[in-house]
Amino acid sequence: MSLFTPEFLDRLFSADHVTVLTGAGASAESGIATFRDPDGLWSKSSPAELASYDAFVRNPVRVQSWYSARIRAVLGADPNPCHVSVAALEELVPTVTVVTQNVDRLHHRAGSTNVVELHGNLIDTYCVTCGETCTTLEVDPDASEPAKCVCGGLVRPAVVWFGETLSRTAFDAAVMAASRCDVCICIGTSAEVQPAASLPILASDHGSYVVEFNVRETAISDRIDATVLGRAGTLMPLLINEMREQSNVGAH
Ligand code: OAD
Repeated sequence: MSLFTPEFLDRLFSADHVTVLTGAGASAESGIATFRDPDGLWSKSSPAELASYDAFVRNPVRVQSWYSARIRAVLGADPNPCHVSVAALEELVPTVTVVTQNVDRLHHRAGSTNVVELHGNLIDTYCVTCGETCTTLEVDPDASEPAKCVCGGLVRPAVVWFGETLSRTAFDAAVMAASRCDVCICIGTSAEVQPAASLPILASDHGSYVVEFNVRETAISDRIDATVLGRAGTLMPLLINEMREQSNVGAH
């Protein structure tokens, strides 16, 4: 018996455009920490101390060394079956847009070709003074000096911090994807951070079928069509298998 409702599968099989909204839970099985789970990053430190421009200026070595560790974790990780299956959706649906809150580039590495990075990415770094791309912000937690650009400015990761606005281009693309899709699949997000959390609601308001895959219910569970409980790296491959079987049946 399928874990997925017949209505979801029907809508998916006839969809022209699917938008996949992902959060940290999509990368959890690659060994990348989530934020709000009991062992998540925000259970150990507060976002106000690490993920804001004020925190960075107050203590650049602390913020740079925390991001150095996250960059190392991401570069040492591999896409998991969730990322691979999201990329495989492109073989089965005419248009797929991946809107991700993740900054780890794992969707790109898995082969997704249309990825909107709402919160930027961890791999690129730039100087807050001259804006030039910098090679690294690697710094030791015990360093006495922060990593600097050749111009002397501080180097920061190309992520969106709390209190900063999202890239207009990325947000416009995400709104377009949410308002035009036939099906929206939200994977591994607590849906607690705006404006990302408003996207599935926007999709629903525009008539899209909205489903979430998560290990637990979330802030939007009672506002969308269905919640499928389970791990992203299990559910997405199951979904792709069902879609492949269905398209083989259709072809005979
Ligand atoms: P959260 O840490 O808030 O939520 C992670 C979600 O993933 C939770 O709902 C978990 O239940 C779920 N989860 C964990 N493991 C899973 C698995 N294996 N399979 C499926 N679901 C799983 O992360 P986000 O929603 O991504 O922003 O958080 C949004 C933003 O808050 C992040 O982009 C980041 C953070 O502060 C910035 O840094 C700007």
